[in-house]
Amino acid sequence: MDKNIENVIEVKDLYFSYTKTPFLKGINFTVNKGEIFGFLGPSGAGKSTLQKVLTGLCTNYEGTARILGVDSNKHGKDFYEKIGVDFEFPSLFEKLTARENLDYFASLYSGETRDVDELLKEVGLYEHADKKVSDFSKGMKSRLNFIKSLVHNPEILFLDEPTSGLDPNNAKIMKDMIMKEREKGKTIIITTHNMQDATELCDRVVFIVDGQMKALDTPHNFIMKRGAAKVTYSYMENGKEQSSTSVLSELSNDMLLKELIAENRIIAIHSAEPTLSDIFMELTGAQLD
Ligand SMILES: Nc1ncnc2c1ncn2[C@@H]1O[C@H](COP(=O)(O)OP(=O)(O)OP(=O)(O)O)[C@@H](O)[C@H]1O
Ligand SMILES: [Mg+2]
Repeated sequence: MDKNIENVIEVKDLYFSYTKTPFLKGINFTVNKGEIFGFLGPSGAGKSTLQKVLTGLCTNYEGTARILGVDSNKHGKDFYEKIGVDFEFPSLFEKLTARENLDYFASLYSGETRDVDELLKEVGLYEHADKKVSDFSKGMKSRLNFIKSLVHNPEILFLDEPTSGLDPNNAKIMKDMIMKEREKGKTIIITTHNMQDATELCDRVVFIVDGQMKALDTPHNFIMKRGAAKVTYSYMENGKEQSSTSVLSELSNDMLLKELIAENRIIAIHSAEPTLSDIFMELTGAQLD
């Protein structure tokens, strides 16, 4: 494997099916080193399936899926030394403690592993290190599953819904850790249907619906290029509160607004940019759930 490869992930004309009907259809993208790349789409769109192809779990695909220059269906033993996978559903030994789980998974790798106590501290599980995983809450399991994927210090991280089921505080801890990994030069693939997370974390996002790529861009470009910021204002009319909306760039044409300002009748006014969720709906016709 060439460490200097800039396109650490290369996907070209990728097709995959579980049954006779094609499911992933014509997927094309590359991911650069040090990038956080998001798969955004509704439930059943194929996000986890795409991750399974990239991580070598679904091998009977057509087209190209190359990780660090290696075809994901022809990888050697060291493949899993270079990538870390945080599965959608925690895969932990319930009868072992958190520390025992991490020590066990760390022992499977040949390279240097990270300090388990440090990782536990970072996600707020240090106090629970010697508790059996069966006694963990859902959010605690998610956090443990996440650090399990970091234990061998991989170059690429595949995180499937990393913040799902976490309270805002723990979701923030997780997001900060993901950013820290990126600062260290790691490449990160995130699967999500949470547009807030995608906007905050991802350098680029691909919209996926029904196994197909619908659009690919940075969250900023999606928002600035596609959607128009709107201004909503409210005012009194015949003793009742009314409201109206205008597109920000065409505000000077809004005669009602001009009149209301001149007569000092505006009660409230605010502007809002479209969210990634709005853009997703506009471009794909599908709704993120
Ligand atoms: N092993 C399998 N055999 C047959 N069909 C499967 C298998 N795994 C997933 N599928 C189907 O593939 C489709 C996509 O599933 P996938 O898990 O990739 O969606 P997703 O985008 O990750 O959804 P979610 O947001 O709910 O996690 C679904 O219709 C699912 O039923
Ligand atoms: Mg999924």
